[in-house]
This record gives sequence, structure tokens and C-alpha cells, in this order.
Amino acid sequence: MELLREVIESGRWGGYHDFVGRLEREFAAFVQCAHGVSAMNGTVTMEMALWAAGVGPGDEVIVPAISFVSTAMVVSRVGALPVFVDIEPLSFNMDPERAAAAVTPRTKAMIAVHFGGAMADMDRLLPLAEEHGLVLIEDAAHAHGAEWKGRRAGSLGLAGSFSFQNSKVMTAGEGGMLTTNDAAFAERAWSIMDQGRKPGGGWFFHYVPGSNYRITGLQAAVLLAQFERLPEQICRRTRNAALLRAELSDVEGLAFQALPKAQNANPWYLLLGRIDALSMGRTRDEFHRELTAADVPCAAFYPHPLYGNPLYQDGGCRVEPCPVAEACVADAFWLPHRALLGDEETTREVAAAMRRACGQ
Ligand SMILES: Cc1ncc(COP(=O)(O)O)c(C=O)c1O
Repeated sequence: MELLREVIESGRWGGYHDFVGRLEREFAAFVQCAHGVSAMNGTVTMEMALWAAGVGPGDEVIVPAISFVSTAMVVSRVGALPVFVDIEPLSFNMDPERAAAAVTPRTKAMIAVHFGGAMADMDRLLPLAEEHGLVLIEDAAHAHGAEWKGRRAGSLGLAGSFSFQNSKVMTAGEGGMLTTNDAAFAERAWSIMDQGRKPGGGWFFHYVPGSNYRITGLQAAVLLAQFERLPEQICRRTRNAALLRAELSDVEGLAFQALPKAQNANPWYLLLGRIDALSMGRTRDEFHRELTAADVPCAAFYPHPLYGNPLYQDGGCRVEPCPVAEACVADAFWLPHRALLGDEETTREVAAAMRRACGQ
């Protein structure tokens, strides 16, 4: 409230309040990056990234078949072709082998999503990008504070794209941030976000046909306050996720998301799992219905892989075989991060409700 009051009393509520620059500097430093460019949401940050990286008509961009639609939609918006590849059976992240098989002479970029907070296999995706000269963008909308061998999500590829939308672990209702260590790229992205201006280039001087994607000082105030709580909340969720997964390790037919060994910090945006109906004797939908009736927040995954959206029914994409993504639509689920924010007793209650929903 104090930070919000400061913005309100300053009379400068828009994108040029000092808090916006402070958030960009502090968040970029947290992500181990030299530059942060804030924007209205985590969709436009990715669009800015593709544009600033020179991705456009005639280019192909490899994306996982499972993600929120923005990961593919931004590719379409810059006039390039999204190429959907399958995910791995338990990581829920893009399968590097499938990504390698999808590369063509037209491939310009890859977007690696760190789904639910568990990171895509950067030890295989980074060399793949290097081998073919591809731009690698991290869609880190779920991965604030995730770490791969000590390196923060958002600092491994050319750029990291974060979301501060309502459901995220840090939020101002809406908001986004692009992080990078490339100064020229950061300047191009900033220009696209700020109506084509150049830093220090004058208010009425516009160099590229960008847009107004600025966040407001009010959003930055809320985010600075949320940012302070992030490390403690990550610790709490990490503790509770470990407890919950251990409590349910003997449940027949329930498999939780595989956690890569190289990942040493996970913000636990989602607790993901799959149900093997044959060995459990319950379908995912039965599990989901029962858990929801017990007042535990749970989602029955996405209704389709990204290419199943009406947007892609008439083409405008290439679809590689995606049997795992198709299977997950029928058997996967997630619990949102707030289910992991309780104390030990509440977490044990959530685990007990999940066990009952599994019929065990
Ligand atoms: C994986 C992923 N990427 C991108 C986005 C887009 O973020 P925003 O809603 O801030 O535009 C989301 C939002 O839910 C997401 O889950």
C-alpha cells in the first residue's frame, strides 16, 4: 500500500514512474541478466522478443505442442510459422529429439517453455540451437526463480519472457518482463514496447513501428511488493511439494512431473501429474471431479494440444507427430501454486484428499 500511495501521490501513474525502471533493474538482476524490459503482459514480451530477434515471414519457429496459446500465437503474429513438436512423457516439456527432427533450412528460432516451473532440458536445447544457428527464447511465464545448474531461467537463451498475469507466482493482475544479456537486443525490444522511440532519442522521435506496451507505475509498485515475498514463497512451495509427493509416492497409477536433476530451484507454479486409469481404476476426469468436490483446486489440463485450437484448424502451422501431447490431454492434471502455500497440516490434508480422489 505504501508503494502504491507513493505512485498515486506522485501524479505520474504511467510507464515513466521511477518504479518501472527499478523493477526492471531488480528483476533483471534476480534473473542474472544485464537488461530487463517490462511490458503489459507475457504475450507481448514474447512478441517483442521475436520481432527484436528479426523473426518474421518465411521463418519457422519450433514450439512445444503443450503450452498456453501465447507461445504459438506470437509466432503467428510476427508472420512466421509455428512448428508444433511433442513433449516428453513426464517432464511436460519440449522433447529435444523431436525439436531436432523438426529443424529445416527455414527454422529461425525455438521457444522453450519451462512448464509449471520445471525447466526444459537446456543441456540439450542450447547445443541444438547453437548447432543450427537458432535463436532460443525461454518462455519463462511459469519460471520466476527457477534455476538450471545455478543459472536462472530467463538468462540461458537470448531472452527470457516472464508473465505477471493474475495466476502467476508474482502478479499485478497483468504484466510482463523480457530479460536478456544482449544490450542491442534489449534496446530494440524497448523501442518496440515504447512506440518506436530510442533511449534518450526524444519524446516525438519514433524509429520503428512499435506500439505502446508500457506497464504503469501502479503495476510496478504492486510487483515490487510481490517480488519481496517471492523467495520465501518459493521455499514454502518447495517444502510442501516435496512433502505432498512423498506422501503419495505409493499411490498406484499416479505419476508426478519428472524433475530434471540439473534443475536446482523450482518455483512450483504448478504441481503436475498424470493418471494411468488402467492401474488406478479411475479416470483423470473422475479424479478431477472428486478432488474439486473436496475443495482442492485442480485443473483437468488443456482441452487440446495447441494445434487443436480453432486458430490453427485451417493451417498456418506445421504439426509434427505429438502422441504424448495427445495422451496428456486425456490423463494429465495440475494443481495451481496456491495449493502449495499452506502449512504442513494443510498440505497433509491436500495429500489425503488426493489419495481419496485416486480411490486409495
Ligand atoms: C506458458 C505461458 N506463456 C505465456 C503466457 C502469457 O502471459 P500473459 O497472460 O501475461 O500474456 C502464459 C500465461 O498464462 C503462459 O502460461
